[in-house]
Amino acid sequence: MEKIFALAPMMSITDRHFRVFMRHIFPRLQLYTEMISTGSIIHGSRHDLLDFDPVEHPVGIQFGGCNPNELAFCARLAQERGYDEINLNIGCPSDRVQNARFGACLMAEPDLVASCVEEIKRISGLPITIKTRIGIDKYDDYEFLADFITKTSNAGCNRFFIHARKAWLKGLSPRQNRSIPPLEYDKVYKVKEDFPHLQIIANGGIHSLSAVESHLGKLDGVMIGREANRNPWFMKELSNHYFANPDESPETGREAIVRSYMQYIEEQLRQGVALKTMARHLMGIYHGQKGARHWRRMLCGDGPVSDAGLEIVESALRQVTRVQNFQHS
Ligand SMILES: Cc1cc2nc3c(=O)[nH]c(=O)nc-3n(C[C@H](O)[C@H](O)[C@H](O)COP(=O)(O)O)c2cc1C
Repeated sequence: MEKIFALAPMMSITDRHFRVFMRHIFPRLQLYTEMISTGSIIHGSRHDLLDFDPVEHPVGIQFGGCNPNELAFCARLAQERGYDEINLNIGCPSDRVQNARFGACLMAEPDLVASCVEEIKRISGLPITIKTRIGIDKYDDYEFLADFITKTSNAGCNRFFIHARKAWLKGLSPRQNRSIPPLEYDKVYKVKEDFPHLQIIANGGIHSLSAVESHLGKLDGVMIGREANRNPWFMKELSNHYFANPDESPETGREAIVRSYMQYIEEQLRQGVALKTMARHLMGIYHGQKGARHWRRMLCGDGPVSDAGLEIVESALRQVTRVQNFQHS
């Protein structure tokens, strides 16, 4: 079976523009929205929250919530909008999310999560997947994780994205909870050994081809978050390595990626979207390359003014090319 490569949902990063950018980079990448709470859909502006671009397919929508009926209602809306998958957030440890009784704290309520899965499946018919941690607080033994997987998979979830860290619900911020608890990939591997019929995908701290290679030897896929933002070219390298595209010139480089995304920017500018909301996603594309600093400074150094157009990106590209040619001459 083909391995799964997924973009991790990240609030304030994996918006529609970032996802389109990733689609240009990695045609087979499974995309996910940022977490959207059921409350914000039910009480807020549905149109903006559920919006996505057709090029994003396959794209999953990630929900935060704990009420089976509300989740099912939102899942039905997502299905009508054309999303390909519903993903449930069982990993976010923020206070706000805990106060609303969803995210990582739901690992302690597997029966409730199972009811949510059943209801979403019953009402929407879309595949439902779960993104979770390996444990929370003192509940960090393998049996706790295995019990969660057993109950929620019996309810109809066949694909799990497992962030290989536990979360501390008190005392650590969400940011600290993404680096301080140690990564324990062995627990994720054991889930796959014990539940071979499920698709198990590793998440957390994956930023090299060799790491990807080693996870894929034991699991069904990898989900990558921060590295896709810090160094988007890494995703291109993965795409080239695992899904070489015979129609694409081997010279397709960073500039070609930027230019293809510029066509999207151009369309969006015409619809009144501000350049900076889209150009910010290009910041890391020259990561580690000569001229990267110039690129970032020109692109977003002083923040492009709101009526700025694509000429800013054009001149940043010229500057990078100049620096790179100078270094090579
Ligand atoms: C800025 C930021 C926002 C995040 N927002 C979400 C989110 O909305 N939903 C979610 O499931 N995880 C969220 N995460 C966690 C990531 O999906 C991922 O699990 C985590 O960053 C570990 O993967 P990585 O080491 O590849 O980044 C967020 C992470 C970051 C850095």
